[in-house]
Amino acid sequence: MNINDITIRLENKNDHRKVEELVRTSFWNVYRPGCSEHYVIHVLRDDPAFVRELDFVVEKDGSLIGQNMFMKTVIEADDGRNIDVLTMGPICIANDLKRRGYGKLLLDFSLEKAAELGFGAVLFEGNIGFYGKSGFDYSSRFGIRYHDLPEDADSSFFLCKELKKGYLDGVTGVYQTPQGYYVDDSDVEEFDRGFPYMEKKKLPTQIF
Ligand SMILES: CC(C)(COP(=O)(O)OP(=O)(O)OC[C@H]1O[C@@H](n2cnc3c(N)ncnc32)[C@H](O)[C@@H]1OP(=O)(O)O)[C@@H](O)C(=O)NCCC(=O)NCCS
Repeated sequence: MNINDITIRLENKNDHRKVEELVRTSFWNVYRPGCSEHYVIHVLRDDPAFVRELDFVVEKDGSLIGQNMFMKTVIEADDGRNIDVLTMGPICIANDLKRRGYGKLLLDFSLEKAAELGFGAVLFEGNIGFYGKSGFDYSSRFGIRYHDLPEDADSSFFLCKELKKGYLDGVTGVYQTPQGYYVDDSDVEEFDRGFPYMEKKKLPTQIF
């Protein structure tokens, strides 16, 4: 689809390396010195939980400037049911084009497509400042807890949006991050050696 001056389309095999380069430069030194997201996306594309129909890239003037992807996972409900949901990310926009509205366009487009495919809710870790504008709220308000997080810990990083109104009505339980997101630092290091050198920096804003 074309919105303003960008095109959002499904990722194809020829995009893979360019997308990994984009993800690497976009996440570099944001949450930790260096980053692992380019390796995570590399691994997740082959994961059975990966949703190929929701693997989007953004093009502008012939260049890839953004990407977003989704994975299937479950909420382990307190009543014993497994509730199918989606999780999302990595999502990114190229450094020189951040804060121009492209991220929100990509996010809203992706969520609309996820809803069209019949998915009921999306949950993940993120900043309410960005995701709140697209209808996300704290997962705690839906009665959904983050796996392995002590009850009194701050869970404001853990967000949720229903794609079908009322999908989580009557559901309380624990959200599980798909296993594919957990990668070994040593595998990240090795994968990263195949990319141009960038300096790792320790910054006060990083969370890890
Ligand atoms: C997060 C990201 C995808 C947002 O894309 P973007 O194109 O820069 O965002 P938009 O311009 O569409 O932002 C829309 C609104 O969301 C809010 N917002 C955007 N980025 C934000 C941030 N990092 N923190 C808080 N609020 C943010 C702002 O209110 C913004 O509107 P404003 O610029 O008029 O104030 C992009 O900044 C990025 O690639 N970041 C690095 C990778 C990353 O952290 N990905 C998310 C992992 S959870």
